[in-house]
Amino acid sequence: MKKFYEMGRDERLDFIKSAAGLSGDEAASFGAPLAFESADRMVENAVGIMSVPLGIATNFVINGVERLVPMAIEEPSVIAAASKAAKIAKARGGFTAKADRSLMIGQVQVVSVKNIAGAKRKVLAKKKEILAIANAKSKSVAAVGLGVREVRDASRNRMGRMLVVELTIDAKDAMGANAVNTMCEAIAPKVAEITGGEVVLKILSNYATKRMVRCKAVFDKGELGGSEIVKRILYAYALAHSDVYRAVTHNKGVMNGIDAVALATGQDFRAIEAGAHAYAARDGTYRSLTRWWRTKEGDLAGEIELPLAVGIVGGVANVNPTAKVALKIMSVKSAQELAMAMAAAGLAQNLAAIRALSAEGIQAGHMRLHARKFGK
Ligand code: MEV
Repeated sequence: MKKFYEMGRDERLDFIKSAAGLSGDEAASFGAPLAFESADRMVENAVGIMSVPLGIATNFVINGVERLVPMAIEEPSVIAAASKAAKIAKARGGFTAKADRSLMIGQVQVVSVKNIAGAKRKVLAKKKEILAIANAKSKSVAAVGLGVREVRDASRNRMGRMLVVELTIDAKDAMGANAVNTMCEAIAPKVAEITGGEVVLKILSNYATKRMVRCKAVFDKGELGGSEIVKRILYAYALAHSDVYRAVTHNKGVMNGIDAVALATGQDFRAIEAGAHAYAARDGTYRSLTRWWRTKEGDLAGEIELPLAVGIVGGVANVNPTAKVALKIMSVKSAQELAMAMAAAGLAQNLAAIRALSAEGIQAGHMRLHARKFGK
């Protein structure tokens, strides 16, 4: 049987169609440009559609399930590299991943509070009442927790002490931004009344630290090019862990994988990026989002951990048929399964990049694919 990359477009679409059980219409419309009317409804002053190539990464086995992974990206070699890394991982059982519940954080900022400690106590005492106001706003997602923190302004403006009332909301299979924002706005008048302060911001946090995903894999040393390459990869990781200039580039490679799946499946990749980079700097120093080490057998093991707020219902997938079909192709049944597949794509992409950099150098592979694509 032909390999996926050896097939022509029609053969690739036929393959996906039967693998993912797509209808004729779904297969035919997959990757077609968005209708202008849709774009016009989505943004203001619309004039057209900006196209990005869409491909499928192969060989991904995540928690024992084989998945095709759609990736939208303009950069050559990313999809090939992810597929190659996933193939090496597959030989050792593929990726093992876990994702938290879809808990989002919503913030209501309260200023001009006279008695901070008293206001905190009063808000917590009215927790049930505030949660009920939030929950009246949605049938599909649920406000499940509430906390209050004091924050002191450290800017040059000296705006003083303030409170942040934080809702914890289970967004289930949605990304949750709209529901969280609606709930924050709904509770704001009550929060102002209870605290006697002035509410300013009412908005979700894109730092979704209660919505973490973790993914691991082992890569055979022989497939990577031998023990010497494993050692060089560990040197590459050591630099990414310890030096911000390298860490940013290392994480850019990780995000090549995560963003490409995010774009293909209609996720808010800016939210994902902002949260990921904040997490990379959680101990005060910006570091690698992945960790790499040598196993007892001398193979390379790696893991990635980051907050990932993604959804399979609502959002862009509602209006963009390609995003909807992309989710069907991945065969993800929950936001968690999507997050785990994205984390696997990030880990695979990172492995491929640091392997190439530690061995032949990135230009050799990049340039080979560039030459093929642009006929040089
Ligand atoms: C290029 O898009 C990504 C890399 O620079 C990532 C890395 O250096 O690890 C190759």
